[in-house]
Amino acid sequence: MAYQVTRGTRDILPDEQQIWRFVEKNIVAVCQEFGYDRIDTPLFEEASLFQRGVGEDTDIVEKEMYTFADKGGNPLSLKPEGTAPVCRAYIEHGMFILPQPVKLYYITPAYRYERPQAGRLREHHQFGYEALGEGDPALDAEVIEMACRFYQRLGLGDEYNLIINSIGCRECRPVYIEKLKKYYENHLSSLCQDCRNRFVRNPLRLLDCKKASCREAAKDAPPSWESLCESCSQHLESLKSYLETLGLNYKLDHRLVRGFDYYTRTVFEVQPHEEGAQSTLGGGGRYDGLIEELGGKPTPGVGFATGMERIIEKLKKRGLPGSDSKQVRVYIAYQKPEYQKEAVKLASTLRKSGVATLLAYGPKSLKAQLRQAGSLKIKRAIILGEEELKEDSLITRDMEIAEQSKVKRKELIEKIDSFLEKWTTK
Ligand code: HAM
Repeated sequence: MAYQVTRGTRDILPDEQQIWRFVEKNIVAVCQEFGYDRIDTPLFEEASLFQRGVGEDTDIVEKEMYTFADKGGNPLSLKPEGTAPVCRAYIEHGMFILPQPVKLYYITPAYRYERPQAGRLREHHQFGYEALGEGDPALDAEVIEMACRFYQRLGLGDEYNLIINSIGCRECRPVYIEKLKKYYENHLSSLCQDCRNRFVRNPLRLLDCKKASCREAAKDAPPSWESLCESCSQHLESLKSYLETLGLNYKLDHRLVRGFDYYTRTVFEVQPHEEGAQSTLGGGGRYDGLIEELGGKPTPGVGFATGMERIIEKLKKRGLPGSDSKQVRVYIAYQKPEYQKEAVKLASTLRKSGVATLLAYGPKSLKAQLRQAGSLKIKRAIILGEEELKEDSLITRDMEIAEQSKVKRKELIEKIDSFLEKWTTK
C-alpha cells in the first residue's frame, strides 16, 4: 500500500511555495513597521505549560492536544498554539529587564487533534505576535491595527469584519459568570450536550457554541460589558476610542469569548463576512495573568495569531499576480554522453558565480535535453558540441527563437554577468 499524508495534514508543494513566500514577505514587512522581532520556540514543550497556560477545561487541552511521554517518561505536547511558549521564553530569558513592551512575532506550525474539514487541519501554521509588559489599551488598539494592516497588505482588506469584546478580569469575571449562569438556567433544555457540560465547567464558553439552538440562546444572554469593574470598563472604552481614532470599524459582540482560559479584558477576532468557525481568519486578545500563571512576575500581555492556510486559501481564490517561480537561468546540454563530465564542471562553475543552472542527466539525446529545457521554460541553453569543444568554445541557444551562437568558453565564464544581462534585455 502506498503511503499517504496523515489525516488533517498536508504537503506544501512547490507550486504553492510562491504564495507562502509572498505572505511571509508581508509578515516581515508588517512586523518591521510595528517594531516586532522574530522568535522561534520548539515544536514541543512540557505538557503542563499548555495545561496551565491555555487551561485544563478548554477544548484544546481537554480534547485536541498531541501529548505523549518521551523515552524518559516526560509528558510533552506538540504546541497547539504559540502564545504560552512565547511567554515561557519571556520568563526564561529574563526579558522583563528589557524595555517594555517586548514585541515578538513567530511563524509556526501548530497541532490540534480536530475533525479535519475545509480550513481546519491537525497541523496548521500560524503567524502570531505578542506584546509583553504593557497594559495600556493603546497597545491593544495597535495590536488590532497591525492585524488589519497585515490583511490590507495582502489585498484582503475588504474581506472581513472586526469583532471585539471584553471579558473582564479576575475581579469582575466571577460576577459576570454568575449572571450568565442565572440566565442559562432557564435555557438548559435548548442547549446541546456539550453546552450542558460547559454550564458546569466553563460557562463563558456557552456563548460561542456554533450550534443553531445554542446560538439562539446566546443572543439574549447578558453582555459582559454590563458587569465589568471600573478599570476594565475604562479599558474597553479607551480601546473603542483608539479604534475610532485609527478609523477601524468594529462590531462589539458579547458572544465573542475565545477558547482559551488565559484571556482577560480585550478579545477580538477577524471574521470573514460569511459565518463559520472554521473560517475565522485570526484572533487574539489580552492575557494579563498568563505570565504570572507560568511562574513569572505579574506582567500584562496582548497578542494575535492568524492561520496561514486560511489566508492562503483566500489569496488563491483572488489569484496572485503570476511570476516565474523558477529562477533558473541556464540549462546545460551536451551532444554526446562523454561530455557529461565537462557539463558537470561547467554547471559547478556557473553556480559558483551565482547563476542558477540546471543540467541534463542520463543518456538523453541532445534533442530530448533541449525539449526538457523547453518544458521547464528555461530561456537559455548552453550546449557542449563536438566541433565547438575542440576549439574550446560553447554554443548558447535562445530557447524561445531557437537561435544559436558560438562563444569562447573562457569568455562566457569570465563575462557571464554581461551575457546574462544581454540575454534578459534581448
Ligand atoms: P486561535 O484562534 O486558536 O488563537 O488560532 C489562531 C488562528 O489560527 C485561527 O484564527 C485560525 O485562523 C488558525 N487556526 C486555528 N486552528 C486551526 C486549525 N485547526 N486549522 C487551520 N487553522 C487553524 C490562538 O492560537 C492564540 N494563541 C492567538 C493569540 C495570540 N492570542 C493572543 N496572542
